[in-house]
Amino acid sequence: MTEAVAVPAQSLPGGVEMPMIGFGTWQLRGRAGRQAVQAALGAGYRHIDTATMYGNESEVGHALADSGLGRDAVFLTTKLPSSRADRERATLAASLRALGTGYVDLWLVHSPPHGRKLCHVWQEFLAMRDQGKVRAVGVSNYSVTQIDRLTEVTGVTPAVNQISWSPARHDPAVLAAHAERGVAVEGYSPLKGANLADPVLTGIAGAHGVTPAQVVLRWHLEHGITVIPKSAHPERIAANFDLLDFSLSADEVAKIDSLSRR
Ligand SMILES: NC(=O)c1ccc[n+]([C@@H]2O[C@H](COP(=O)([O-])OP(=O)(O)OC[C@H]3O[C@@H](n4cnc5c(N)ncnc54)[C@H](OP(=O)(O)O)[C@@H]3O)[C@@H](O)[C@H]2O)c1
Repeated sequence: MTEAVAVPAQSLPGGVEMPMIGFGTWQLRGRAGRQAVQAALGAGYRHIDTATMYGNESEVGHALADSGLGRDAVFLTTKLPSSRADRERATLAASLRALGTGYVDLWLVHSPPHGRKLCHVWQEFLAMRDQGKVRAVGVSNYSVTQIDRLTEVTGVTPAVNQISWSPARHDPAVLAAHAERGVAVEGYSPLKGANLADPVLTGIAGAHGVTPAQVVLRWHLEHGITVIPKSAHPERIAANFDLLDFSLSADEVAKIDSLSRR
């Protein structure tokens, strides 16, 4: 097991620190899923992103147990599908059982439920946080307007919004709106959403002696966005975590930003 690397973290309410490099687990199931999470923990990741919908919480739980790491050494996120908006507590209980833990660090509403359920689910999330079953609560795939609605009704703003992000999707206004509200942005599909053969990315990668994938992931960190890349391959899993020995200049960041305007 690799020694813990000092990964930068985003501070969430309640003194919760979210490591800004996490391991995404969508589509990692069964034995290969358990092995991929084992590889990630072995490479140094201390933040794992799963969801009820991924059907792999027990594989994540087994990999955590295999690692021998203490529960408090790993930041664990899971998500409630909006289709379970009327069964929040039972769904969380099932997640905790599958993960083999008494709490998760972050529980997200996977996507916004319709109508009155939008605020009802959020109230249930706050109740579960108050009971200590989750340390921080947030949302995923929400608009800023939907986030504002939750704040208006409950007085509590989500700690995190997990949204699709990549150079092609870069939108400074969306980042600014989250920053104004104190909502941490966690970007998903950082690599899927990028053209890794783009000459801007390959040029910058060449200059730093890293891969275009590492450039894309590092660019997220430069913008203060948490990344959760997924891979099933140990060498990519390790490379996607290896982002702290180089940094991008303001000019390089601006060049990558400009890919969204093509
Ligand atoms: N909240 C939501 O609605 C939502 C939606 C989507 C995803 N997510 C979360 O975000 C995580 C990441 O997103 P994602 O899985 O959609 O996409 P991603 O991490 O951007 O990309 C994964 C793809 O990129 C490949 N890849 C990984 N590392 C690579 C590298 N170094 N070079 C080239 N290709 C590489 C992977 O292939 P191999 O596996 O073959 O290496 C896989 O095909 C998910 O796993 C999930 O945890 C959340």
